[in-house]
Amino acid sequence: MRVLTGLQPSGTLHIGNYFGSIRQMKMLQDSSNLFIFIANYHALTSLKDGKALKENTLDAAINFLSLGIDPNKSTFWLQSDIKEVLELYWILSSFTPMGLLERAHSYKDKIAKGITANHALFSYPVLMAADILLYDSQIVPVGKDQIQHVEITRDIAIKFNNIFGDILTIPEFKIDEVVSTVPGVDGAKMSKSYGNTIDIFCTQKQLKKATRKIVTDSTALEDPKDYESCNVFALAKLFLDENGIKELKQRYKKGGEGYGHFKIYLQELIWDYFEPARTKREYYLNHKDEVRDILHEGAKKARKIAVKKIEIIKDKVGILC
Ligand code: ADP
Ligand code: TRP
Repeated sequence: MRVLTGLQPSGTLHIGNYFGSIRQMKMLQDSSNLFIFIANYHALTSLKDGKALKENTLDAAINFLSLGIDPNKSTFWLQSDIKEVLELYWILSSFTPMGLLERAHSYKDKIAKGITANHALFSYPVLMAADILLYDSQIVPVGKDQIQHVEITRDIAIKFNNIFGDILTIPEFKIDEVVSTVPGVDGAKMSKSYGNTIDIFCTQKQLKKATRKIVTDSTALEDPKDYESCNVFALAKLFLDENGIKELKQRYKKGGEGYGHFKIYLQELIWDYFEPARTKREYYLNHKDEVRDILHEGAKKARKIAVKKIEIIKDKVGILC
């Protein structure tokens, strides 16, 4: 089963990203044939600072490797290292009705937010379709906001197949329902755009500051506390096994400990959990050439499939090879 996903190199990763996405990728690389790449061409639609894009791209690779994306278990590469994806992007563009793209929520939302439209932003889903179809991907795990893009991919592929026969694999999206939304320090969904994150690779001092900010109610220290409605508990349980969760519930019910204590406990849980990732990251930050080599090796593997596929597609549509 080929599972494929693209990750935007969009800067600092937070705990919501880890439990909502990265952890699933780690499980998928154990259970399936995971193809995973950094979507730096997509990032170009919103970032127009060359130095920053290069830095973000390498940073993203370092972060994903540190958090457990394993190039020996998955195929991990940089989108722009496989030029065939841009060939397919153009070919698919000729099979993409304007109306399909005009209906894209993500595009409409960005325009509504006042972002100036450019062609790449508009045709973003076509490049995403190329990403998916070039590798005969069967399953595409995505966040809810990306479902429509996979549906657009399916529409384009079906249209193409109607003309040329059974050439493109029709993908399915997969949403992981197990992890519910991770709350931020204010209790709303943790998100970069809300400024309520707890970042994975922050300093201990920053972590302390972030956990201290978590909003709690005003139950007195000695009184029992409601763990169900507590943001500190909601975060802590992500890092605990069943027994750990049970013990923490007892501490809430018993009273005698204030939210300050639970926040310190949470801070320790987070710090310890990401200790191995921090050590790896330190290593990769000092061996960036190695990171670039890993991505090149991944691209070599993925390209074997891409080259064969693009040849078939070009032949079908009539582009001389
Ligand atoms: P942000 O909202 O901070 O910009 P992204 O949209 O870049 O985050 O999310 C990247 C991935 O992380 C997506 O798959 C998304 O579903 C997941 N994710 C982000 N925030 C959360 C959260 N608070 N809870 C669960 N998953 C999340
Ligand atoms: N658009 C996706 C996002 O913003 C990233 C992405 C690019 C992607 N190409 C993809 C995801 C192909 C899945 C499959 O998160």
